[in-house]
Amino acid sequence: MRLFQYSSNLGRLARAAALAAIPLLSGCFWLDGPQSTFDPNGPVARHQQDLFYLTCWVCLVIFVIVGAVLAYAMIKFRARGDAADFPDPVEHSHGNPMVEISLIGASVLALVVIAVPTLKEIWYSYDVPVGDKANAYEVTATGYQWWFKFDYPNETAKTTDPTGKAVNAPFSTANELVIPVGRPVKINLRSVDVIHSFWVPKLAGKVDMMPNRANHLWIQADKAGYFWGQCAEFCGESHAVMRFRVIALGPREFNDWLSAQMEPARRVAAPSEADAGKPKAQFAAYRTFRRNEAGYSDRFDASPLESWREQQKPPADEDAALIARGRELFSAKTCATCHTIRGDGYIGVVGPELTHVGGLLENNRDELHRWIHAPNEVKPGNTMWVKGYIANAIKLTPDDENALVSYLESLK
Ligand code: CUA
Repeated sequence: MRLFQYSSNLGRLARAAALAAIPLLSGCFWLDGPQSTFDPNGPVARHQQDLFYLTCWVCLVIFVIVGAVLAYAMIKFRARGDAADFPDPVEHSHGNPMVEISLIGASVLALVVIAVPTLKEIWYSYDVPVGDKANAYEVTATGYQWWFKFDYPNETAKTTDPTGKAVNAPFSTANELVIPVGRPVKINLRSVDVIHSFWVPKLAGKVDMMPNRANHLWIQADKAGYFWGQCAEFCGESHAVMRFRVIALGPREFNDWLSAQMEPARRVAAPSEADAGKPKAQFAAYRTFRRNEAGYSDRFDASPLESWREQQKPPADEDAALIARGRELFSAKTCATCHTIRGDGYIGVVGPELTHVGGLLENNRDELHRWIHAPNEVKPGNTMWVKGYIANAIKLTPDDENALVSYLESLK
Protein backbone atom coordinates (compact mmCIF):
# COMPACT_ATOMS: atom_id res chain seq x y z
CA MET A 1 0.00 0.00 0.00
CA ARG A 2 2.87 2.42 0.74
CA LEU A 3 3.89 2.27 -2.87
CA PHE A 4 0.47 3.53 -3.95
CA GLN A 5 0.42 6.30 -1.34
CA TYR A 6 3.47 7.92 -2.83
CA SER A 7 2.52 7.51 -6.45
CA SER A 8 0.60 10.30 -8.11
CA ASN A 9 -3.05 10.05 -9.03
CA LEU A 10 -2.12 10.42 -12.68
CA GLY A 11 0.18 7.41 -12.46
CA ARG A 12 -2.61 5.44 -10.86
CA LEU A 13 -4.95 6.44 -13.68
CA ALA A 14 -2.44 5.41 -16.33
CA ARG A 15 -1.93 2.03 -14.65
CA ALA A 16 -5.68 1.40 -14.48
CA ALA A 17 -6.05 2.27 -18.17
CA ALA A 18 -3.21 -0.08 -19.11
CA LEU A 19 -4.78 -2.90 -17.08
CA ALA A 20 -8.16 -2.32 -18.69
CA ALA A 21 -6.56 -2.44 -22.14
CA ILE A 22 -5.05 -5.92 -21.63
CA PRO A 23 -8.30 -7.87 -22.07
CA LEU A 24 -9.27 -5.64 -25.00
CA LEU A 25 -5.93 -6.14 -26.75
CA SER A 26 -5.78 -9.86 -26.02
CA GLY A 27 -9.38 -10.10 -27.23
CA CYS A 28 -8.29 -8.73 -30.59
CA PHE A 29 -5.73 -11.48 -31.07
CA TRP A 30 -8.34 -14.18 -30.50
CA LEU A 31 -11.29 -12.77 -32.40
CA ASP A 32 -11.38 -15.81 -34.67
CA GLY A 33 -10.97 -18.36 -31.86
CA PRO A 34 -13.25 -21.40 -31.75
CA GLN A 35 -15.22 -19.99 -28.82
CA SER A 36 -15.11 -16.30 -29.69
CA THR A 37 -18.28 -14.26 -29.18
CA PHE A 38 -16.80 -11.66 -31.57
CA ASP A 39 -17.45 -13.97 -34.50
CA PRO A 40 -21.22 -14.52 -34.40
CA ASN A 41 -22.59 -17.09 -36.86
CA GLY A 42 -26.30 -16.64 -36.28
CA PRO A 43 -28.96 -14.02 -35.55
CA VAL A 44 -29.13 -14.60 -31.79
CA ALA A 45 -25.36 -14.28 -31.32
CA ARG A 46 -25.37 -11.23 -33.58
CA HIS A 47 -28.08 -9.50 -31.54
CA GLN A 48 -26.13 -10.26 -28.37
CA GLN A 49 -22.96 -8.84 -29.88
CA ASP A 50 -24.76 -5.65 -30.99
CA LEU A 51 -26.01 -5.20 -27.45
CA PHE A 52 -22.49 -5.74 -26.10
CA TYR A 53 -21.08 -3.05 -28.40
CA LEU A 54 -23.85 -0.60 -27.51
CA THR A 55 -23.13 -1.06 -23.80
CA CYS A 56 -19.41 -0.69 -24.48
CA TRP A 57 -19.90 2.59 -26.36
CA VAL A 58 -22.13 4.08 -23.65
CA CYS A 59 -19.58 3.10 -21.00
CA LEU A 60 -16.72 4.45 -23.11
CA VAL A 61 -18.41 7.86 -23.44
CA ILE A 62 -18.97 7.98 -19.64
CA PHE A 63 -15.39 6.87 -19.03
CA VAL A 64 -13.96 9.57 -21.31
CA ILE A 65 -16.08 12.36 -19.77
CA VAL A 66 -15.39 11.34 -16.16
CA GLY A 67 -11.71 10.71 -16.92
CA ALA A 68 -11.34 14.12 -18.59
CA VAL A 69 -12.99 15.98 -15.68
CA LEU A 70 -10.88 14.02 -13.20
CA ALA A 71 -7.64 14.73 -15.07
CA TYR A 72 -8.56 18.40 -15.43
CA ALA A 73 -9.28 18.73 -11.69
CA MET A 74 -6.12 16.89 -10.69
CA ILE A 75 -3.87 19.00 -12.88
CA LYS A 76 -5.51 22.36 -12.20
CA PHE A 77 -5.84 21.94 -8.42
CA ARG A 78 -2.74 19.88 -7.70
CA ALA A 79 -0.65 20.91 -4.64
CA ARG A 80 2.33 23.06 -5.53
CA GLY A 81 5.13 23.16 -2.97
CA ASP A 82 4.05 22.74 0.65
CA ALA A 83 0.25 22.52 0.75
CA ALA A 84 0.08 24.21 4.17
CA ASP A 85 1.38 27.46 2.68
CA PHE A 86 -1.61 27.79 0.37
CA PRO A 87 -5.23 28.52 1.14
CA ASP A 88 -8.00 26.42 -0.48
CA PRO A 89 -8.07 27.36 -4.17
CA VAL A 90 -11.88 27.52 -4.35
CA GLU A 91 -14.65 28.56 -2.08
CA HIS A 92 -16.48 25.58 -0.59
CA SER A 93 -20.18 25.29 -1.32
CA HIS A 94 -22.95 22.80 -0.55
CA GLY A 95 -23.50 21.77 -4.10
CA ASN A 96 -25.15 23.19 -7.16
CA PRO A 97 -28.75 21.95 -7.68
CA MET A 98 -28.52 22.41 -11.45
CA VAL A 99 -25.36 20.31 -11.70
CA GLU A 100 -26.78 17.60 -9.45
CA ILE A 101 -30.10 17.35 -11.27
CA SER A 102 -28.27 17.26 -14.62
CA LEU A 103 -26.01 14.45 -13.40
CA ILE A 104 -28.99 12.41 -12.17
CA GLY A 105 -30.76 13.04 -15.48
CA ALA A 106 -27.70 11.99 -17.49
CA SER A 107 -27.31 8.79 -15.42
CA VAL A 108 -30.97 7.88 -15.90
CA LEU A 109 -30.66 8.55 -19.62
CA ALA A 110 -27.56 6.34 -19.88
CA LEU A 111 -29.35 3.55 -18.01
CA VAL A 112 -32.42 3.82 -20.24
CA VAL A 113 -30.27 3.74 -23.38
CA ILE A 114 -28.78 0.44 -22.12
CA ALA A 115 -31.89 -1.04 -20.48
CA VAL A 116 -34.39 -0.74 -23.34
CA PRO A 117 -32.32 -2.71 -25.91
CA THR A 118 -31.24 -5.13 -23.16
CA LEU A 119 -34.85 -6.04 -22.36
CA LYS A 120 -35.61 -6.28 -26.07
CA GLU A 121 -32.70 -8.72 -26.59
CA ILE A 122 -33.67 -10.79 -23.56
CA TRP A 123 -37.12 -11.31 -25.09
CA TYR A 124 -35.64 -11.89 -28.53
CA SER A 125 -33.23 -14.61 -27.39
CA TYR A 126 -35.83 -16.26 -25.13
CA ASP A 127 -37.90 -17.82 -27.89
CA VAL A 128 -38.14 -18.20 -31.67
CA PRO A 129 -39.78 -15.07 -33.20
CA VAL A 130 -43.51 -15.63 -33.80
CA GLY A 131 -43.22 -15.43 -37.59
CA ASP A 132 -40.55 -18.17 -37.66
CA LYS A 133 -42.26 -20.61 -35.31
CA ALA A 134 -43.72 -22.79 -38.08
CA ASN A 135 -40.23 -23.30 -39.51
CA ALA A 136 -38.55 -24.04 -36.18
CA TYR A 137 -36.91 -27.34 -35.29
CA GLU A 138 -37.00 -28.62 -31.72
CA VAL A 139 -34.48 -30.50 -29.61
CA THR A 140 -34.06 -31.11 -25.91
CA ALA A 141 -30.68 -30.71 -24.24
CA THR A 142 -30.16 -32.33 -20.86
CA GLY A 143 -27.18 -31.66 -18.62
CA TYR A 144 -25.53 -34.55 -16.78
CA GLN A 145 -22.36 -34.45 -14.71
CA TRP A 146 -20.46 -34.08 -17.09
CA TRP A 147 -21.96 -34.40 -20.54
CA PHE A 148 -24.82 -33.13 -22.66
CA LYS A 149 -27.58 -35.35 -23.98
CA PHE A 150 -29.49 -34.19 -27.05
CA ASP A 151 -32.94 -35.67 -27.70
CA TYR A 152 -34.86 -35.22 -30.94
CA PRO A 153 -38.43 -35.42 -29.61
CA ASN A 154 -40.13 -35.25 -33.02
CA GLU A 155 -38.15 -38.06 -34.62
CA THR A 156 -38.62 -41.80 -34.23
CA ALA A 157 -35.75 -44.21 -34.63
CA LYS A 158 -35.73 -47.93 -35.24
CA THR A 159 -34.67 -50.63 -32.84
CA THR A 160 -35.55 -54.21 -31.96
CA ASP A 161 -37.37 -55.49 -28.89
CA PRO A 162 -35.97 -58.39 -26.80
CA THR A 163 -37.61 -60.90 -29.16
CA GLY A 164 -35.85 -59.35 -32.14
CA LYS A 165 -38.96 -57.69 -33.55
CA ALA A 166 -38.47 -54.24 -35.13
CA VAL A 167 -40.02 -51.44 -33.04
CA ASN A 168 -39.77 -47.65 -32.85
CA ALA A 169 -37.80 -45.81 -30.18
CA PRO A 170 -36.58 -42.30 -29.39
CA PHE A 171 -32.94 -41.55 -30.09
CA SER A 172 -30.38 -39.21 -28.60
CA THR A 173 -26.81 -38.13 -29.16
CA ALA A 174 -24.17 -37.19 -26.62
CA ASN A 175 -22.12 -34.00 -26.77
CA GLU A 176 -22.88 -33.45 -30.45
CA LEU A 177 -25.94 -31.50 -31.49
CA VAL A 178 -26.66 -31.67 -35.22
CA ILE A 179 -29.00 -28.93 -36.50
CA PRO A 180 -30.31 -27.75 -39.88
CA VAL A 181 -28.76 -24.56 -41.32
CA GLY A 182 -30.92 -21.45 -41.65
CA ARG A 183 -33.74 -22.76 -39.48
CA PRO A 184 -34.43 -21.58 -35.95
CA VAL A 185 -33.80 -24.37 -33.46
CA LYS A 186 -35.62 -24.22 -30.17
CA ILE A 187 -33.64 -25.97 -27.47
CA ASN A 188 -35.41 -27.13 -24.32
CA LEU A 189 -32.94 -27.08 -21.44
CA ARG A 190 -33.09 -29.66 -18.66
CA SER A 191 -30.79 -31.03 -15.99
CA VAL A 192 -30.85 -34.33 -14.13
CA ASP A 193 -28.47 -33.37 -11.34
CA VAL A 194 -26.99 -29.90 -10.67
CA ILE A 195 -27.17 -26.55 -12.46
CA HIS A 196 -25.35 -26.50 -15.79
CA SER A 197 -25.33 -23.75 -18.40
CA PHE A 198 -25.74 -24.12 -22.15
CA TRP A 199 -23.38 -21.94 -24.16
CA VAL A 200 -22.36 -21.96 -27.83
CA PRO A 201 -20.44 -18.67 -28.06
CA LYS A 202 -20.78 -18.29 -31.85
CA LEU A 203 -24.51 -19.06 -31.88
CA ALA A 204 -26.01 -18.03 -28.53
CA GLY A 205 -25.67 -18.22 -24.83
CA LYS A 206 -25.75 -18.62 -21.94
CA VAL A 207 -28.87 -20.10 -20.35
CA ASP A 208 -28.88 -22.23 -17.22
CA MET A 209 -30.06 -25.83 -17.22
CA MET A 210 -31.73 -26.30 -13.87
CA PRO A 211 -33.05 -29.39 -12.10
CA ASN A 212 -36.86 -29.35 -11.80
CA ARG A 213 -37.22 -26.26 -13.92
CA ALA A 214 -37.90 -26.06 -17.66
CA ASN A 215 -35.80 -23.49 -19.50
CA HIS A 216 -35.20 -22.88 -23.16
CA LEU A 217 -33.40 -20.77 -25.72
CA TRP A 218 -33.10 -20.77 -29.49
CA ILE A 219 -30.20 -20.73 -31.91
CA GLN A 220 -29.83 -20.48 -35.65
CA ALA A 221 -26.75 -21.03 -37.79
CA ASP A 222 -26.28 -18.88 -40.92
CA LYS A 223 -24.18 -21.45 -42.73
CA ALA A 224 -22.95 -25.02 -42.41
CA GLY A 225 -20.33 -25.24 -39.70
CA TYR A 226 -18.97 -26.78 -36.56
CA PHE A 227 -19.33 -24.76 -33.38
CA TRP A 228 -17.76 -25.37 -29.99
CA GLY A 229 -19.94 -25.28 -26.90
CA GLN A 230 -19.18 -25.38 -23.22
CA CYS A 231 -20.96 -25.73 -19.91
CA ALA A 232 -20.75 -22.25 -18.43
CA GLU A 233 -21.76 -22.92 -14.83
CA PHE A 234 -19.44 -24.59 -12.34
CA CYS A 235 -21.00 -28.01 -11.81
CA GLY A 236 -18.36 -30.18 -10.15
CA GLU A 237 -14.83 -31.39 -10.59
CA SER A 238 -15.05 -32.08 -14.33
CA HIS A 239 -16.96 -28.91 -15.23
CA ALA A 240 -14.05 -27.62 -17.32
CA VAL A 241 -14.24 -30.63 -19.66
CA MET A 242 -18.04 -30.58 -19.99
CA ARG A 243 -17.99 -29.54 -23.62
CA PHE A 244 -20.12 -30.17 -26.67
CA ARG A 245 -20.30 -29.34 -30.36
CA VAL A 246 -23.03 -28.02 -32.63
CA ILE A 247 -22.87 -29.22 -36.22
CA ALA A 248 -25.00 -27.23 -38.65
CA LEU A 249 -25.80 -29.00 -41.93
CA GLY A 250 -27.66 -28.02 -45.10
CA PRO A 251 -31.22 -29.40 -45.45
CA ARG A 252 -30.32 -32.46 -47.53
CA GLU A 253 -27.27 -33.41 -45.47
CA PHE A 254 -29.25 -32.89 -42.28
CA ASN A 255 -31.99 -35.25 -43.51
CA ASP A 256 -29.39 -37.83 -44.52
CA TRP A 257 -27.87 -37.59 -41.07
CA LEU A 258 -31.29 -37.99 -39.44
CA SER A 259 -32.04 -41.07 -41.55
CA ALA A 260 -28.69 -42.58 -40.58
CA GLN A 261 -29.43 -41.93 -36.90
CA MET A 262 -32.82 -43.66 -37.20
CA GLU A 263 -31.13 -46.87 -38.20
CA PRO A 264 -30.18 -49.40 -35.53
CA ALA A 265 -26.49 -49.88 -34.74
CA ARG A 266 -24.25 -50.74 -37.65
CA ARG A 267 -23.37 -54.43 -37.74
CA VAL A 268 -20.03 -55.60 -39.02
CA ALA A 269 -20.50 -59.10 -40.42
CA ALA A 270 -18.69 -61.82 -38.51
CA PRO A 271 -15.56 -63.00 -40.33
CA SER A 272 -16.01 -65.91 -42.71
CA GLU A 273 -13.84 -69.06 -42.53
CA ALA A 274 -11.94 -67.86 -45.58
CA ASP A 275 -11.02 -64.55 -43.92
CA ALA A 276 -9.85 -66.11 -40.66
CA GLY A 277 -6.20 -66.36 -41.63
CA LYS A 278 -5.87 -62.84 -43.05
CA PRO A 279 -3.70 -60.28 -41.25
CA LYS A 280 -5.48 -58.05 -38.75
CA ALA A 281 -6.53 -54.52 -39.63
CA GLN A 282 -4.11 -51.69 -39.02
CA PHE A 283 -5.68 -48.60 -37.52
CA ALA A 284 -4.16 -45.24 -38.35
CA ALA A 285 -4.38 -42.90 -35.39
CA TYR A 286 -6.94 -40.19 -36.01
CA ARG A 287 -4.42 -37.55 -34.93
CA THR A 288 -2.25 -38.54 -37.87
CA PHE A 289 -5.20 -38.22 -40.18
CA ARG A 290 -5.94 -34.77 -38.81
CA ARG A 291 -2.37 -33.52 -39.15
CA ASN A 292 -2.37 -34.53 -42.78
CA GLU A 293 -5.34 -32.30 -43.44
CA ALA A 294 -4.87 -28.96 -45.17
CA GLY A 295 -5.24 -26.09 -42.74
CA TYR A 296 -4.79 -28.15 -39.58
CA SER A 297 -3.09 -26.21 -36.82
CA ASP A 298 -2.19 -27.10 -33.29
CA ARG A 299 -4.41 -24.37 -31.96
CA PHE A 300 -7.58 -25.86 -33.34
CA ASP A 301 -8.77 -27.92 -36.22
CA ALA A 302 -9.21 -25.52 -39.16
CA SER A 303 -11.81 -27.66 -40.86
CA PRO A 304 -13.66 -29.53 -38.13
CA LEU A 305 -16.78 -29.91 -40.28
CA GLU A 306 -14.80 -31.79 -42.95
CA SER A 307 -13.22 -33.96 -40.26
CA TRP A 308 -16.68 -34.67 -38.88
CA ARG A 309 -17.99 -35.70 -42.32
CA GLU A 310 -15.00 -37.98 -42.71
CA GLN A 311 -15.74 -39.50 -39.32
CA GLN A 312 -19.24 -40.59 -40.48
CA LYS A 313 -17.77 -43.14 -42.88
CA PRO A 314 -16.94 -46.64 -41.66
CA PRO A 315 -13.19 -47.36 -41.51
CA ALA A 316 -11.89 -48.96 -44.70
CA ASP A 317 -10.38 -51.88 -42.87
CA GLU A 318 -11.99 -53.47 -39.84
CA ASP A 319 -11.27 -56.52 -37.74
CA ALA A 320 -14.65 -58.26 -37.65
CA ALA A 321 -13.59 -60.86 -35.07
CA LEU A 322 -12.32 -58.17 -32.67
CA ILE A 323 -15.55 -56.20 -33.11
CA ALA A 324 -17.65 -59.28 -32.34
CA ARG A 325 -15.57 -59.89 -29.20
CA GLY A 326 -16.10 -56.23 -28.21
CA ARG A 327 -19.87 -56.62 -28.61
CA GLU A 328 -19.82 -59.59 -26.19
CA LEU A 329 -17.64 -57.73 -23.70
CA PHE A 330 -19.99 -54.76 -23.78
CA SER A 331 -22.57 -56.97 -22.11
CA ALA A 332 -20.19 -59.13 -20.04
CA LYS A 333 -18.49 -56.10 -18.44
CA THR A 334 -21.91 -54.57 -17.58
CA CYS A 335 -21.50 -51.57 -19.95
CA ALA A 336 -24.99 -52.38 -21.26
CA THR A 337 -26.53 -51.61 -17.86
CA CYS A 338 -26.11 -47.89 -18.52
CA HIS A 339 -25.81 -47.49 -22.30
CA THR A 340 -28.25 -47.98 -25.16
CA ILE A 341 -27.10 -49.45 -28.47
CA ARG A 342 -30.21 -49.80 -30.59
CA GLY A 343 -30.47 -53.07 -32.47
CA ASP A 344 -27.83 -54.81 -30.36
CA GLY A 345 -30.25 -55.29 -27.47
CA TYR A 346 -28.61 -52.84 -25.04
CA ILE A 347 -31.09 -50.46 -23.44
CA GLY A 348 -29.40 -48.71 -20.46
CA VAL A 349 -30.37 -45.07 -20.00
CA VAL A 350 -28.05 -43.71 -17.29
CA GLY A 351 -25.19 -42.95 -19.69
CA PRO A 352 -25.05 -41.67 -23.26
CA GLU A 353 -26.69 -43.62 -26.07
CA LEU A 354 -23.90 -45.20 -28.13
CA THR A 355 -25.78 -46.46 -31.19
CA HIS A 356 -23.77 -44.25 -33.55
CA VAL A 357 -20.98 -43.23 -31.18
CA GLY A 358 -18.21 -43.87 -33.71
CA GLY A 359 -19.52 -40.99 -35.81
CA LEU A 360 -18.80 -38.36 -33.17
CA LEU A 361 -15.74 -36.35 -34.12
CA GLU A 362 -13.78 -36.69 -30.90
CA ASN A 363 -14.30 -40.44 -30.69
CA ASN A 364 -11.25 -41.47 -32.61
CA ARG A 365 -9.45 -44.66 -31.67
CA ASP A 366 -6.90 -42.94 -29.41
CA GLU A 367 -9.51 -41.00 -27.49
CA LEU A 368 -11.86 -43.97 -27.08
CA HIS A 369 -8.97 -46.01 -25.75
CA ARG A 370 -7.90 -43.26 -23.38
CA TRP A 371 -11.46 -43.05 -22.07
CA ILE A 372 -12.04 -46.78 -21.62
CA HIS A 373 -8.60 -47.37 -20.13
CA ALA A 374 -8.79 -44.68 -17.45
CA PRO A 375 -12.06 -42.71 -17.44
CA ASN A 376 -11.05 -40.96 -14.25
CA GLU A 377 -8.08 -39.33 -15.93
CA VAL A 378 -10.27 -37.87 -18.69
CA LYS A 379 -13.15 -36.68 -16.51
CA PRO A 380 -12.27 -36.90 -12.81
CA GLY A 381 -15.11 -38.25 -10.66
CA ASN A 382 -17.32 -39.31 -13.59
CA THR A 383 -20.18 -41.76 -13.12
CA MET A 384 -18.75 -44.45 -15.37
CA TRP A 385 -15.67 -44.57 -13.17
CA VAL A 386 -17.29 -44.25 -9.75
CA LYS A 387 -20.51 -46.24 -10.23
CA GLY A 388 -19.21 -48.49 -13.00
CA TYR A 389 -15.54 -49.40 -12.79
CA ILE A 390 -15.10 -49.01 -9.02
CA ALA A 391 -18.52 -50.17 -7.77
CA ASN A 392 -18.57 -53.23 -10.06
CA ALA A 393 -14.82 -53.90 -9.81
CA ILE A 394 -14.54 -53.89 -13.61
CA LYS A 395 -11.14 -55.01 -14.81
CA LEU A 396 -10.17 -54.78 -18.47
CA THR A 397 -7.12 -56.45 -20.01
CA PRO A 398 -5.38 -54.63 -22.89
CA ASP A 399 -7.05 -57.13 -25.25
CA ASP A 400 -10.47 -56.34 -23.76
CA GLU A 401 -9.86 -52.63 -24.22
CA ASN A 402 -8.81 -53.16 -27.80
CA ALA A 403 -11.93 -55.19 -28.57
CA LEU A 404 -14.25 -52.66 -26.93
CA VAL A 405 -12.62 -49.77 -28.81
CA SER A 406 -12.99 -51.63 -32.09
CA TYR A 407 -16.65 -52.33 -31.38
CA LEU A 408 -17.44 -48.71 -30.44
CA GLU A 409 -15.50 -47.39 -33.40
CA SER A 410 -17.52 -49.60 -35.72
CA LEU A 411 -20.76 -47.93 -34.57
CA LYS A 412 -21.04 -45.23 -37.19
CU1 CUA B 1 -21.97 -28.66 -16.30
CU2 CUA B 1 -20.37 -27.03 -15.66
